[in-house]
Amino acid sequence: MKKYILISGIQPTGRLHIGNYLGALKNFVDLQNSGKYQCYFFIADMHALTENPEAKNLSANIISLVADFLAAGLSPKKSTIFQQSRIEPLQELKWIFSTLTPVSELMRMTTFKEKVLQPLKPSVREKITKERFEEIVEESNFGLAEYPVLMAADILIYDGKFVPVGDDQLQHLEFARTLARKFNNRFGKTFIEPQPILTKTARVMSLADPRKKMSKSEPAGCLFIDDSAEKIRKKISRATTDSGSEIKYDPEKKAGISNLLGIYSALSGKSIEKIEREFKGKGYAEFKSGLANLVANYFSNFRKSKKSLLAKPHTPLAALKAGSAKANKIANKKIAEVKKKIGIVIQ
Ligand code: ADP
Ligand code: TRP
Repeated sequence: MKKYILISGIQPTGRLHIGNYLGALKNFVDLQNSGKYQCYFFIADMHALTENPEAKNLSANIISLVADFLAAGLSPKKSTIFQQSRIEPLQELKWIFSTLTPVSELMRMTTFKEKVLQPLKPSVREKITKERFEEIVEESNFGLAEYPVLMAADILIYDGKFVPVGDDQLQHLEFARTLARKFNNRFGKTFIEPQPILTKTARVMSLADPRKKMSKSEPAGCLFIDDSAEKIRKKISRATTDSGSEIKYDPEKKAGISNLLGIYSALSGKSIEKIEREFKGKGYAEFKSGLANLVANYFSNFRKSKKSLLAKPHTPLAALKAGSAKANKIANKKIAEVKKKIGIVIQ
């Protein structure tokens, strides 16, 4: 049976939180282990440059992310694990794609709008005028606007058919589909239109403000997967919850408890209803303490394994190098086909 190609990447922009894990990394591992796909997972370090990181932080984040991948269960024997910046033809394909992309389409992307406004305080962000927004866009780095074009190249260069991501990436994926179609219509069938694979917990909310998505850019609301057991307990006990005392799933009226129930369900494999029943008549404190134990235990092996990988970073880095060489070969083949189709390779 033909195995389709499945691909996804994560940016090395800081420690992974439980939203990244449940929305992306856990799914990567499950999909890899299903044996149904040819899997490619990469560190999106070129995308991370859009945040202008300090060089030493970027290097440390790359090493930390490859250790996360391996400690969580991705295996270089089962998947191609690589570093985006080592794929030389990727930048050529991104350029070719950018010549097929209207600027207005990039300006309309939700993530683009969010990212350019990120440095502002939330209170300022909410009341921004159209004029001020336009000024900010003009000053923002061009990489932020081009971000989805590079992401489309990331997927299409390997003929990726399935892309596991969190729901914040759906618009980017739709953009990649449009580009594939546009290219195929103009130059003949070359690319596959990729489809997303979402998890049940495609959106974990912030512990500090459950109306907002948990995000590395707001560390106060994050539960990091390499947090110590003690930190996990502290953070969960302080997580914002709602008035009332019942453990009941109701994202509208009980956003805080519902978010914690979602995490509980995803890590334990139990249904929300079952957890509600188990905690019937018990208060928030008891539920939070049960969740804290669950999270701390769940990531206990992960923490140990990550620590030992980081003690000898040569091993994960060598795996990354070998995976990149493999991915580069495939990408080189595809770019040769593309160059022929668009008429710049003449023979
Ligand atoms: P962040 O927004 O924290 O910087 P990234 O943009 O690096 O995270 O996302 C890495 C992966 O994790 C993506 O597939 C994204 O969809 C997923 N993801 C990010 N935040 C969440 C969340 N709160 N809930 C579920 N998935 C998430
Ligand atoms: N944009 C993704 C994120 O922020 C990371 C990413 C880059 C990606 N290229 C990709 C994800 C290609 C899937 C496929 O999380």
